Amino acid sequence: MPSYLPTLLAALALPVVQLVHGQLFTVNCQPLTIQRADPIIFPGVISPHVHAVIGGTAFQQTMSTTTAPDATDTTCDKKLDKSNYWQPQLYHLRNDGWFDLVTFQGSAVYYLNRACDYAPGLTTCPTNFNSTAPPAGLRMVVGSPTLRTFNASSFSQLAIQHVCLRENDSPNFNSLPPMACLRLRSETFFPSCWDGVNLDSSDHSSHMAFPAFGDYNGGVCPQSHPVAIYSVFYEFYYDTSPFTDYQNLVYAMGDPTGYGLHGDFLNGWSDQNALAQAVNTCQGPEGAYATTCSVNVCPLPSSSSSKPHVPIVPAPAENVGLTGPIAALPGNNPITGTFVKARSSKFRT
Ligand SMILES: *[C@@H]1O[C@H](CO)[C@@H](O)[C@H](O)[C@H]1NC(C)=O
Ligand SMILES: *[C@@H]1O[C@H](CO)[C@@H](O)[C@H](O)[C@H]1NC(C)=O
Repeated sequence: MPSYLPTLLAALALPVVQLVHGQLFTVNCQPLTIQRADPIIFPGVISPHVHAVIGGTAFQQTMSTTTAPDATDTTCDKKLDKSNYWQPQLYHLRNDGWFDLVTFQGSAVYYLNRACDYAPGLTTCPTNFNSTAPPAGLRMVVGSPTLRTFNASSFSQLAIQHVCLRENDSPNFNSLPPMACLRLRSETFFPSCWDGVNLDSSDHSSHMAFPAFGDYNGGVCPQSHPVAIYSVFYEFYYDTSPFTDYQNLVYAMGDPTGYGLHGDFLNGWSDQNALAQAVNTCQGPEGAYATTCSVNVCPLPSSSSSKPHVPIVPAPAENVGLTGPIAALPGNNPITGTFVKARSSKFRT
């Protein structure tokens, strides 16, 4: 048995697929690459900080949503899904001033039916509403890498959360948790409302909006962004068990607060029609796992999962900490902001 297999199998077992209200289906993904690339915000160049990336093997510095479906493989269990999903990588600041890379274990991506289209006067979604699939070619970003403070009135900040997985409970915070965690689940919930026209925008977020009525994670879309799409929600898992000095965790952009956590999505589904049919074929507690669910045409890991998944274009030749401690965060990012005492936030409903 190849030596990497136990790791892959361990990663596969990781995502805890809980049922979330309005769930259509979940995509469980192994890590693809950890590198300084961000083809949405910094196309064609090395990006300022390191990202943990999952999904299609076409991921590289220069790519578009028209090239994403060309991936020959994906680290995700739904083989039609050649999308890429990424968040900043987590590090641990050591007593000697060097940094350990915190093992990125894999992710679950939820596609949810949680928002409904704008209609004049509508303030609550009708029963039996259906959102539409994220359009082919959509890219979007949620969160801001420069944030070091928290505003509880901002949906885009409420959409950034951390769950501390411990032996007997799993408290939820917007900041990095003020306690030691066996595993950390870094969560980003994307805006569910689209302007219906633009697949991207100069700030990579203004073509999207959070609901006007409801919450950051569901409700009625605003007139400016009238089209409700499936809500996209990431859970990225990190093995924080070796680091009981939790206050020394820091994201790759030099953020020890956690408020700068952000997520990037590039729609690379190779069968947009299957994605569009999910709302009609995958709903309900069992629906998401049924063979009739349109995105489940090949739900189990293919034989290719016995090989390591690697991006077609290799990562930049730089040490991001995969083989041992590094003297600085890649990109020489200084640590800015101090560890903020966390505030608890609402659990998702
Ligand atoms: C907090 O967010 C709300 C909603 O976006 C905004 O109206 C308000 O100005 C923000 N407050 C601060 C201090 O930035
Ligand atoms: C939404 O899709 C379901 C099938 O999953 C269907 O029964 C229902 O009629 C649809 N609702 C609307 C408002 O189109």
